[in-house]
Amino acid sequence: MNNKILVALTVLSASMSLNPNANGAISGSAHDFSNKAWSGGEICVACHAPHNNIDVVDAPLWNHEVSEAVYVLYSSPTFTADDITQPSGVSKLCLSCHDGTVAVDAFGGSEGGNTYLQGRKNLGEDLSNDHPVSFVYDSELATEDGGLFDPETTMSGVAGGTIEEDMLYAGRVECASCHDVHNKYSNFRLLKVDNSSSALCLTCHDK
Ligand code: HEC
Ligand code: HEC
Ligand code: HEC
Ligand code: HEC
Repeated sequence: MNNKILVALTVLSASMSLNPNANGAISGSAHDFSNKAWSGGEICVACHAPHNNIDVVDAPLWNHEVSEAVYVLYSSPTFTADDITQPSGVSKLCLSCHDGTVAVDAFGGSEGGNTYLQGRKNLGEDLSNDHPVSFVYDSELATEDGGLFDPETTMSGVAGGTIEEDMLYAGRVECASCHDVHNKYSNFRLLKVDNSSSALCLTCHDK
């Protein structure tokens, strides 16, 4: 194939698979903390700060106290992935508020202690009843499982790349595989793909 045609096709397929709703923003979302008494009127500071950050693996300039919890992990007789670990990388960041053990306002070196997540927003320390996170999802797992799309070759429809490029973190499924913490896509519950007709689930599961 002529190179120009190849480039044109690549650009076309990339733009066709872009999520048409990719114009959302953190402002006004559940993660816009600027109107909370404890935030100092800022949005980003509860999670990020430009200086004196907390050292967490894979964390972008992290400013929030991190949970020390040891979690009960997902397991089931049909779960094919055999390398699930304690929440790693970005999932650990989410759980530093969403396991309910650390105050939402514990950031910037302050212990906080006023606001803890409640109800369904608090996943607790037992993750055995939640979609598994922190395991590798690659072509090999897809072949072995038989009910998953190959993440290395299947386009995600999220941001113009494959499932691996748009949804995995160091090749692993994490909380941020399904959710965009910054609400970029403006979907219910900060989801990367609107889950009407289970479209989010069917991005990865070949059912
Ligand atoms: C509720 C916590 C939270 C808030 C609030 C938040 N972030 Fe993030 N941010 C994260 C997490 C978790 C990650 C890593 C996961 C990811 O990349 O999706 C991240 C990643 C990033 C990254 C690196 C990856 C990327 O998307 O480019 C940048 C840059 C960033 N945030 C900027 C900001 C800015 C600027 C604000 C405020 C307007 C903000 N964030 C507010 C939690 C937050
Ligand atoms: C600084 C603490 C903090 C961190 C870190 C954090 N969240 Fe949240 N999250 C909150 C708060 C506070 C709310 C809003 C609770 C409420 O409205 O009662 C929330 C709400 C949510 C919601 C519900 C949105 C809705 O529309 O109801 C989802 C989903 C969510 N967070 C996912 C995540 C994920 C995924 C991460 C990591 C990538 C993350 N959060 C990191 C504090 C945090
Ligand atoms: C496989 C996709 C997927 C993964 C991975 C995932 N979530 Fe979710 N999450 C969803 C969907 C879909 C919903 C909305 C339906 C529901 O509430 O069950 C949701 C809802 C939520 C809510 C809102 C609950 C409510 O009713 O207010 C929070 C908070 C949340 N997720 C946090 C997390 C955290 C933290 C992680 C990582 C430990 C995570 N999610 C991993 C798909 C996912
Ligand atoms: C980013 C890709 C991705 C998305 C999106 C996703 N999943 Fe998964 N899910 C996986 C992978 C990979 C596994 C691991 C399968 C295995 O190893 O057996 C898994 C595991 C599961 C399992 C456990 C299977 C077992 O045998 O124990 C269930 C059930 C499941 N997902 C349902 C859902 C539902 C429902 C949704 C939508 C809300 C969803 N998934 C969204 C990738 C995804």
